[in-house]
This record gives sequence, C-alpha cells and structure tokens, in this order.
Amino acid sequence: MGLLDGKVALVTGAAGSIGAETALALAEQGARVVLTDLREPELQAVTDGLKGQGHDVACKAGDITAEDDIRAVVAFAVETFGGVDILDNNAGATGYSSRDLDIPDMPVELWDQVQSINARGPMLFCKYVIPSMLVRGGGSIINISSGQSLSGDVSNFAYAASKAAVNSLTRHMATGYSPRGIRVNAIAAGLIIQPGMEQRLPAHIQDIFLSHCLVPRLGVPRDIANMVVFLASDLSSYVTGQILSVDGGFTAHLPSVADMRPIIDGMKKAPGQWS
Ligand SMILES: NC(=O)c1ccc[n+]([C@@H]2O[C@H](COP(=O)([O-])OP(=O)(O)OC[C@H]3O[C@@H](n4cnc5c(N)ncnc54)[C@H](O)[C@@H]3O)[C@@H](O)[C@H]2O)c1
Repeated sequence: MGLLDGKVALVTGAAGSIGAETALALAEQGARVVLTDLREPELQAVTDGLKGQGHDVACKAGDITAEDDIRAVVAFAVETFGGVDILDNNAGATGYSSRDLDIPDMPVELWDQVQSINARGPMLFCKYVIPSMLVRGGGSIINISSGQSLSGDVSNFAYAASKAAVNSLTRHMATGYSPRGIRVNAIAAGLIIQPGMEQRLPAHIQDIFLSHCLVPRLGVPRDIANMVVFLASDLSSYVTGQILSVDGGFTAHLPSVADMRPIIDGMKKAPGQWS
C-alpha cells in the first residue's frame, strides 16, 4: 500500500533533476503522475524511464509562460487520469543566475521572464487545477520555493523576488482554499546538488555552502521529493500555508556560526580564552 494510492499528481519541470526524482517518488507511493516540461525529448525520456519501471505515468510538454499550454496540460491530466489531486509546482527559472547579478544592470526582459516562469506560471497552474481539485473534494498544492526568498544576497535579485511571490501566493491560497479541502504549502529548498552541477558550481563554492549546513552534506533531489510526498499525503493533513525549509539547517542559525564554531570549540577546551 502506497501513501498516494488512487491519487493523481501533476509535476511541472519534470524533466529537471528535482522534478524527475519527485515524479518517481510520487509514483513509488502509488500516485498516477502527469509530467510536464518545456524540454520535450528530456520529458519523454524521464516518462519512458518511469513507465519502464512499471509506473502509471503520462506526459505532455508545455511552456509554463504560455497560459494556453498550461490549460492544455491540465486538460490532458483530467482526460488521462480523471482529475488532479496533487500539484507539484516545481518548474523553475534555473538558468538565469549568471545575468541576474545586480539591479542597475538588470535586463527587464530577464526580470519579466523569471517572474513569468517562477511566479506567474505556478499561479496559472493553480488557476486551472483548482476546479478539478474542488470537484474531487480537495487536494494538495506544493510550490517549490527557495531559501533565496527568505533572506538577502548579493545576486539573484529577480529569482529571489519571484520565489518570495510564490511564498505569498502559498499563504494566500492556503487561506482561501484550505477550508474547502485544498492545502497549499511551499518548500524553501537549499542548495540541491544535481548531475552537471560541478561545471556550474565549482567545488570550492559548494564547500562554502557546506560549511553553513548543519546536516553535514549538501542536498540531493530525493530530499525535496520526500518532502513533496509528505505534503501530498494525508500524513500532512494538518499542515497548510507553510513555507518549509529543506536545506540541512542552512537558514536555521545565525550567519556567524560557521566562522564562530572553531572559536567556540577552542573556548570549550580552554574556558575563558578566545582562540
Ligand atoms: N537545485 C537547487 O539548488 C534549487 C534550490 C532551490 C530551489 N530550487 C528550485 O527547484 C525547482 C527545480 O529545480 P532543479 O534544481 O531541478 O532545476 P532544473 O533546471 O533541473 O529543473 C527545472 C526545470 O524547469 C523547466 N522549465 C524551465 N523553464 C520552463 C518553462 N518556460 N516552461 C516549462 N518548463 C520550464 C526546465 O526545462 C527544467 O527541466 C525550481 O523551481 C528551482 O527554482 C532548486
């Protein structure tokens, strides 16, 4: 018996690292899963892989910035599996950070594109999925946010603002729809390592992140997928309107801890002495 037997899940950005792993995790718990992404060949490959493992899944490509595509993806899910119970709003503008560096140099089209993918897109998926959820008596919406939305940084301005919009959307939708059976939560993901990350984020940068993680490792896609499964299932039936950090404790402590830890450790060995 799976936690999600009889449920239908829709996963956006399902050709990506976290999305593909989440689709698998949901299917392993018995959900039938509709996968969608902009990148059609990669989407088809992930879907074929899941089918090969015996999971009941289907896919339809679409651009999350195009309302007609979103309407078509949701209609496909309803036609294929009869409705939607779980929406994992996971697609994200992950390839823009090298140009999302500062406000005076912000290309307006980059700002608009990032908001369109990260904030407008999840809102539109909610717009088309909610009617199906209401017909089925409720559901669970999980928005994939980021730790970047919770505090300041020296880059990723457009990305952080778009994820903060998702946090606000999460709380507003939870307030509006939880009384009608639709729970809405967000996951503020920390750094999640994925294949190819070594080129985009060299080891010495990863080490900086690692030094601030309380759990002494960087995140992997399954860490996010597991939280999606929990929020999708009845195990979390009393959880709604929350922004849940899945980041190994990266944002759970004072920013000075990584630097202070060896000093305090020294003081424990020689009480009263600053090392
Ligand atoms: N990896 C991390 O460290 C990290 C940290 C915090 C939050 N997140 C969030 O997790 C989610 C998944 O990210 P990931 O790490 O798997 O990255 P990824 O790049 O592997 O996956 C993102 C997916 O979104 C899809 N996508 C992008 N633009 C689209 C569009 N216009 N229409 C449809 N699909 C589109 C991409 O094709 C891709 O498959 C994103 O929302 C991201 O912001 C990731």
